Amino acid sequence: MCGIVGYIGNKNAQDFLIGGLKRLEYRGYDSAGIVTEDDSGQPTLLKAKGKIANLEAKVAKAKREDHAGIGHTRWATHGEPSETNAHPHQAGSIYLVHNGIIENYKELKSKLSTEHNFVSETDTEVLAALINSFYQDGKYPLSNAVVQALKLVRGTYGIAVISTLNSSELVAARAGSPLVIGVGETETFLASDASALIGHTKKAIYLNDGEVATITANQINIKTLDSQPVSARVETIQTDLSAIQKGGYDHFLIKEIMEQPDSLAETLRGRIDLENSLIRLGGPNLSQQELKNIKNIIIVGCGTAFHAGMLASYYIERFADDVTIQPVIASEFRYREAHIPENSVALIVSQSGETADTLACLREIKSQGVKTIGIVNAIGSTIAREVDGGTYVHVGPEVSVASTKAFTSQAIAMIMFGITIAEAKGAKKSLLAPYIEEIAQLPAEIHQLLQTVPGQIRPLAERYAKYDHAIYLGRDTAYPIAMEGALKLKEISYIDANAYPTGELKHGPLALVDDRFFELVLLPDDHLLDKSISGVQEVLARGGKIFAITNGEIDLPADSTLKIDTKLKLLTPVLFNVVCQLFAYYVTIAKGFDVDQPRNLAKSVTVE
Ligand code: F6R
Repeated sequence: MCGIVGYIGNKNAQDFLIGGLKRLEYRGYDSAGIVTEDDSGQPTLLKAKGKIANLEAKVAKAKREDHAGIGHTRWATHGEPSETNAHPHQAGSIYLVHNGIIENYKELKSKLSTEHNFVSETDTEVLAALINSFYQDGKYPLSNAVVQALKLVRGTYGIAVISTLNSSELVAARAGSPLVIGVGETETFLASDASALIGHTKKAIYLNDGEVATITANQINIKTLDSQPVSARVETIQTDLSAIQKGGYDHFLIKEIMEQPDSLAETLRGRIDLENSLIRLGGPNLSQQELKNIKNIIIVGCGTAFHAGMLASYYIERFADDVTIQPVIASEFRYREAHIPENSVALIVSQSGETADTLACLREIKSQGVKTIGIVNAIGSTIAREVDGGTYVHVGPEVSVASTKAFTSQAIAMIMFGITIAEAKGAKKSLLAPYIEEIAQLPAEIHQLLQTVPGQIRPLAERYAKYDHAIYLGRDTAYPIAMEGALKLKEISYIDANAYPTGELKHGPLALVDDRFFELVLLPDDHLLDKSISGVQEVLARGGKIFAITNGEIDLPADSTLKIDTKLKLLTPVLFNVVCQLFAYYVTIAKGFDVDQPRNLAKSVTVE
């Protein structure tokens, strides 16, 4: 969601800015813009609605040899997507790009309207005007003007600012919206996401909330808003270029689905001791006694991360028997007056590590003295840095907006955390060993599934692509998979897909069944298979078009059935999820939509 890039050095700034914005495209956006300035401060401002390619075409016609500039991909919050509302925004000699939301912008705007002629509907232009009012045409250093302005602002921001009066510096600041500075030899980069820096430098400084950086080609000076100096913490970016490229696939989504045997293997690496049937997680930072004392687990996440938490909760309660588990949706939980009991621990689940609602819950839960454990993918992200301990899932960059490989690893990482609690509480090895063994086998099982299922599911997906509505059904551990499967289908194919527990059919959803719908039913071969089949019979009796996915021997007059071949008994729902991911992908291909960047959505939701 919104992307920021900045450059100052001795190379062509336009080249880095456009390349960097392309790397951030996956986050979702509706317009983009850059401003660069030459050594005398002469600015070139270019903006375009829609894809970066539109901006790139404008840059090709207005090529400059400028060495400093900032750029932005916008995801509209205040005002429609348009060139006027696209960033950078200008006020006097100031140009500004901004991620986040300035909550008191109306109040500030009315105070500034005598000195600045507002052209856009954005909160960002208000911030530009505010900085300009303190800058007073270069009378004060730019960083001072930025600090003065930010002290009056309520809301969240990651910003980059340049002035045409001084082309040798740019200023960046953050509160709730990430920024990372890339340290080069005689050049310095800025981005809202380290992926824009890959291939340019491996040295990164992640700004913290409340910090302001003054950046030149050779120097980075960081202070807090209270003018306290901050010593720079240079970290190494581990990701390489191949991880953020399509690697021969048509889309990032299918690449990321196919990567799951390897990405899950990375999650498991060094964490399973099969010989002794033990899970070893170093990151949570909890002593055996602390693990033993846990009585309640809250799992916080949004969307797919929440579904992963739901799935894990079904498993954890099977073996950690004196523990209660509540998976909660972050945007709801943050405003509830929930009572968190003693001896609780909170799992904070986020692929990006930047989701605003999840971060707000983390801060609230932490302030109540509850231990927080991150289940995060993005290394060095805000959530990863603020939790008390954590387990990185290590799936590598997830570029496609729809989350796939992160789900699998998040769910398994949480199940492993549940096993470590059960181990500390003295659960019988015979209870835990089958789960540990299946977790260890899972990458190979997913690999095997990916050899055959894509070819089988594609024609089925083509058949169901014509429907406008879908019902996903599952019970027990298959219910969170039904929810996740329905989310995947709706977000990329725009089919109105909703999930229900199979046992809930008679309580309402059965009324929906007609020829506008198909019903995708998950039928794992478990202790509830017969009950689930009864539910399906009710749908069939009302003329439903059943698409059944199973690993059991079932005899149903379904519209179609896909049988998965697996040795797994406990973790089959994770395989069913991979099938649902493939199904959503091929339906979307059949409909001809943009799989990697679905309309209206952003990858990392850094505003509320
Ligand atoms: C769905 C999807 C979203 C994210 C959600 C949380 O495919 O990607 O539902 O799962 O926005 O994002 P993270 O995990 O980055 O906190």
